[in-house]
Amino acid sequence: MDYSGHLEHMLCKHGGDDDVSFDQNSFGAAAAIASSEQILTSAIDSMKLNQVVHLQIADLSLGAAGHTFSAVDTVVEVLRRKLAMINGGTEPAFEVFFSDLRPSKDFTSSFRPLEDRVDGSGKKYYSAGVSGSFSWRLFPKGELHVVVTSSLQWLSRIPRKVMKKGSERWNKGRAWIQGAQREVVEAYAEQSDKDLVQFLKCRKEEIMVGGMLFMLMAGRPSDLESQVSDESRLKLIFTTFMDQAWQDLVDEGSIKEERRDGFNIPVYLRNTEEVAAAIESCGGFKIEKMELLKIDDPMNARQQEFMKDPDSYGRAMANLVQLNYFYHMIAVSAIRV
Ligand SMILES: C[S@@+](CC[C@H](N)C(=O)[O-])C[C@H]1O[C@@H](n2cnc3c(N)ncnc32)[C@H](O)[C@@H]1O
Repeated sequence: MDYSGHLEHMLCKHGGDDDVSFDQNSFGAAAAIASSEQILTSAIDSMKLNQVVHLQIADLSLGAAGHTFSAVDTVVEVLRRKLAMINGGTEPAFEVFFSDLRPSKDFTSSFRPLEDRVDGSGKKYYSAGVSGSFSWRLFPKGELHVVVTSSLQWLSRIPRKVMKKGSERWNKGRAWIQGAQREVVEAYAEQSDKDLVQFLKCRKEEIMVGGMLFMLMAGRPSDLESQVSDESRLKLIFTTFMDQAWQDLVDEGSIKEERRDGFNIPVYLRNTEEVAAAIESCGGFKIEKMELLKIDDPMNARQQEFMKDPDSYGRAMANLVQLNYFYHMIAVSAIRV
């Protein structure tokens, strides 16, 4: 466990394709991308394009699952269709950058699904990996046509104040903010706002005027002041189960209380108002569309399977705790103006 509180020292998705891999367990992320496809398609369709023979696209949170490529596939497909008319038959070349926090040992396996993106007539797009946090500039000024990202619920760090022992914002005994003191939630909200504005400032530099920013992030309904509703299983996954597991480890003496209290999950679920306020405060973007999507519970579809094999249920639940699995996602398309 890293005590610096910075995300790049804490987060690493489990790559590969075994039964605890991100690829095999990221039902929520896959469902979210599928649910937002229509919004993404119409956003790209709405772009005003002149003749262009070279387009640059970036996906700023590659992760470690095959479905992550489907957003870029959609972007390329829609642009290719649009440009067939505008370009008068000249095929444009697509260059796609896939980025993530750092090149883990699984970066190579993350790219494996790209092999399917080669068809008989050649590559559907050229690709390259870019390592680095999306909190910072990753590309030259004004060259990207489209940027997609699906991980903005991850904060760049655990807010410092919630780790300060004894302070009124100390999140003692919890790994996350559900059920925490108001001051703790406020500290997360402040960090969330700072991070989103910083992200937008960087993309404002990198995306060309007329380009499109498409953001998909775990979110919460506007009327929910706290992070998740009481009936949500997410509450159990993220809070009851995880906090109870930590408490068990403390009680049996496996870890010290101090070590448990030094761990927080840097995730914040924004509502649409918070997202709109950050876009407004950064400037340079006009919201084309913003929607709160409800994602189906993927565990329901697997209930019969789990009843026959309780062990696999236990493993899948443990995996969901390792992943960040959400019920609501916010999809936003914003034009660079
Ligand atoms: C939810 S996952 C994967 C998202 C992926 N597009 C998908 O659909 O499965 C989150 C990924 O975002 C990456 N990530 C989180 N914060 C990031 C940041 N600040 N910069 C770059 N990547 C980040 C994580 O490393 C992780 O691989």
